[in-house]
Formats: sequence, C-alpha cells, structure tokens
Amino acid sequence: MSVTTTAASAYLGFLSDFKTILGEAFVHTDEESLNIYAHDETENLHFLPDIIVKPRTAEELSDIMRICNSNKIPVTPRGAGTGLSGGALAHLGGVLVSFERMNSIIEIDERNLQVTTEPGVITEVLQNAVKEKGLFYPPDPSSRGSCFIGGNVAENSGGPKAVKYGVVKDYVLNLQVVLPSGDIIWTGANVLKNSTGYNLTQLMVGSEGTLGLVTKIVLKLLPHPQYDLLMLVPFNNLEMAGAAVSAIFRAGFTPSALELVEADALQIVSKFVDSNVVPVEDDVAAHLIIEVDGNHMETLMSEMEAIATLLVDYDCGEVSFADDAQQKAELWKLRRRVAEAVKIAGYTIEEDTVVPRANLPALIHGVKELGKQYDFHAVCYGHAGDGNLHIRIKKEGSIYSLNNPDVIPALKALFTLVKSLGGTISGEHGIGLVQKEYMDIVFEKANLSLMKEIKKAFDPNNILNAGKIFD
Ligand code: LAC
Ligand code: ZN
Repeated sequence: MSVTTTAASAYLGFLSDFKTILGEAFVHTDEESLNIYAHDETENLHFLPDIIVKPRTAEELSDIMRICNSNKIPVTPRGAGTGLSGGALAHLGGVLVSFERMNSIIEIDERNLQVTTEPGVITEVLQNAVKEKGLFYPPDPSSRGSCFIGGNVAENSGGPKAVKYGVVKDYVLNLQVVLPSGDIIWTGANVLKNSTGYNLTQLMVGSEGTLGLVTKIVLKLLPHPQYDLLMLVPFNNLEMAGAAVSAIFRAGFTPSALELVEADALQIVSKFVDSNVVPVEDDVAAHLIIEVDGNHMETLMSEMEAIATLLVDYDCGEVSFADDAQQKAELWKLRRRVAEAVKIAGYTIEEDTVVPRANLPALIHGVKELGKQYDFHAVCYGHAGDGNLHIRIKKEGSIYSLNNPDVIPALKALFTLVKSLGGTISGEHGIGLVQKEYMDIVFEKANLSLMKEIKKAFDPNNILNAGKIFD
C-alpha cells in the first residue's frame, strides 16, 4: 500500500532551507533513499516521504521544526525502522527525520549509575557499553541488535527481561525534547525521585513521536547481575503452558525472563536460522523459556530446581538446561528471531495483546476459537510472564490489516476478548497506524478526547506524526 501526497511539490520548495541548515549531504529526495525509508517492519506497508533529513544536533532539528511548523509540513520521526505498529511511516508524505546521525553515547555516569545518550544509538551497543563498566540496562527488545534507543523510548519497548526489570519507562529519568514549535526543553531532572509538577518525561515515553522529538535520553542503570541460568520446558498443551506461568509467580519466583513460544513458531524459526538446539517432538504444543539471574549461583540453581518441580503439576515434558554460554545464545537467538521468521512464513499480521498474567490461558483459548470463527491461523509467542502475548496471524488472501475489511472484524473480536479479560491492545509495540482503528474498544470517548487535547497542546498545527495513535 502506498499514498502519494498532492502537496509534495510544495514541500520541495523548502529543500534549499533544509540544505542550508544541514548541508547538502544530509537532505535526500532521490527515489532509492525514499524507498528505503518508506517501510518499517510493520506488515507490508510502504509510504514514501517527500524529503529525508538527517540532523546531527537538537539545534539543527529545532531549525527544521520551525520551518515545518510555520508551513504546516508533516514530519515523521524515524529510528532504525524496526517498529511493528507503523509509527515511523510517513503516511502523509512530507519530511522524514532520521536520527541515525545522533548516535553518540554522551556519558556513562558510574557514580550515579546513569547514562546520557543520543537517540540514534543501537540498543545493544548501549547495553554493551554500560556492561563494560559492570552496569546493566535491562530493556531488551528482540530487535536490540538493530533498533535505536530513541525508538524504544517512543514506543515504551519491553522485551524478555521486562518481567523482572520493567520496561523502558522504568529507566527514563530525563529527556531533551525538540517540540513541534522548535523550542528545546528538558522534561525533568537526572534524579531518581521527582514530584515536581506534571510528569512530562513519562508523557513523552510511549508517545510514539507524536508530541515531540527526543534528542537526548538520561537512563537509570543497575549493577549487572553476575550469573544467569536458562531452561527450556516443553508442554503438550498450550493452555497448560499458559497456566504454569502464573503458578511460577504465585510460588514466589521472579524469573528474569519467562517466554512462551508455540511449537509451530519454534519449528519455523529453527528452520529459518538452521538450528537444531530444540528437538522437534510431535506431541509438543509449546515451550516455556525460563531464565533466572542474580549474584549467587547456588540460589539460582535451587530456584530453577524448584520451578522445574512445580511445572510437573502442569504436565510439562522433560526440562532441559542450556549448558553453556553458546547454548544460551543459540536459544535466545531462536527466540529473538521468531517475529522475522513467522512473517516470512506468511504470518504477516502481528498483534501485541496483553492481559493480566493469570488470564493467559483464557486468551490463548479465545484466540484459537476466533481463528476457527474468522478463518485465520494464529501462532502465539512472547512475554508470557508479563501476560504479553504476540499473536501472529495468517489469513488466506490478506497480508495486511490496515483498512482491510477482511481482517478488521477478526481483530475487533480479538481486542474485545482482550478487553473482557482485563487487558489491552498493545504491551510494547505501540498503536501507530495499524492499531488506531481499535482504540475505542479499550478507551471511553473521554479518554480519547483527553489524549487529543494533550496532542493539541504540544502540536497545535498537527504536524508531528499526525494520524498516529488516533486520527
Ligand atoms: C518479540 C518482538 C516482536 O518479542 O516484540 O520478538
Ligand atoms: Zn516482544
């Protein structure tokens, strides 16, 4: 799908201004570049921007925003383009701001356990840089090897470690933001507690680039745990695997990861990355991947044993432990590449449902029933410990969901189910373009109009990532 804007030539009139601000080399309008920046990882969507700009500083970006704001030019911010809700797509054309040149880690403050970074730093690069100093930045989306930390802030990303350590919002202390007006602000202070007025920092986190453009990020860090253990547990019943998840927490354990992967998904990804680390067994419906971490190996070993014993009551199969770093890495590689592998296998529509953890079995059951009713096939995987289930859907003849009448009724039924289970539409991927259709299932009109008023306060001309989250 693509949209071309009739206003394109009008926007091109500002090209020379942008080139004066950034230099010729960092403003692009050639077809090849426009095509590269026309998609992210969402479905098969493709929207061409008119102009790509690559600022190096907040001041340059501020100058660009002043021009766009005065002339009502749509602006779409973009990190690494790994998003799954279409937030970085320039569906209205206009100017696409790429943060790829704002890629410095500014300071690792070992005295205060904080890092100040620019938004275009790859998440894993940041994690490795702080790890070298014995420090830990836990949020670890599957795309951490390519996604940008700025995109993670925009979407309030999570990942496997969220179950013990929380999501991005739990680490963001302060943000430098370029507002649509061009004003540059800091949202808070580099402190661990802050009761000073409205919390603009947390309002920015997860706002999907609709309120302002984040140009510096101050994150809280933790000491890096010394050890971790990883085990793989097969189940021959998917709902039983879901039920086992909440039992682990009720028994007093907090794993550092508790992931569920349905058998179909694991087979697809094993083939995709050519791995046989997980044996293929016919009667297995799903696996749980369970990690514990900490500084005392004996405690971790006894925790793992206790968890394994508890899982017997949920009809688990034979538990296997990852023996060494290489096996752990291979298992995590499989898990991280599920989304990519199942998409290529035809499961192109991805939902990011989240329910209170104990309602996972009901969600899983409901998804399969809806599949029969609406004629789709679903594979489930994701952060079961958080109740955050990614549901990948394959439906004959429908490779995308956006404005697709063949898919929308099924997704409405899915989100109505999620809402009835006390959950919501997105745990960590955001609303962007593809989920905004369903916001009224989980929110009252009053919620939505409050959100729209907040958007207006930040962006009265509606230039910044307009039409994302809501119309
Ligand atoms: C994952 C991404 C898709 O969990 O959120 O793999
Ligand atoms: Zn995920």
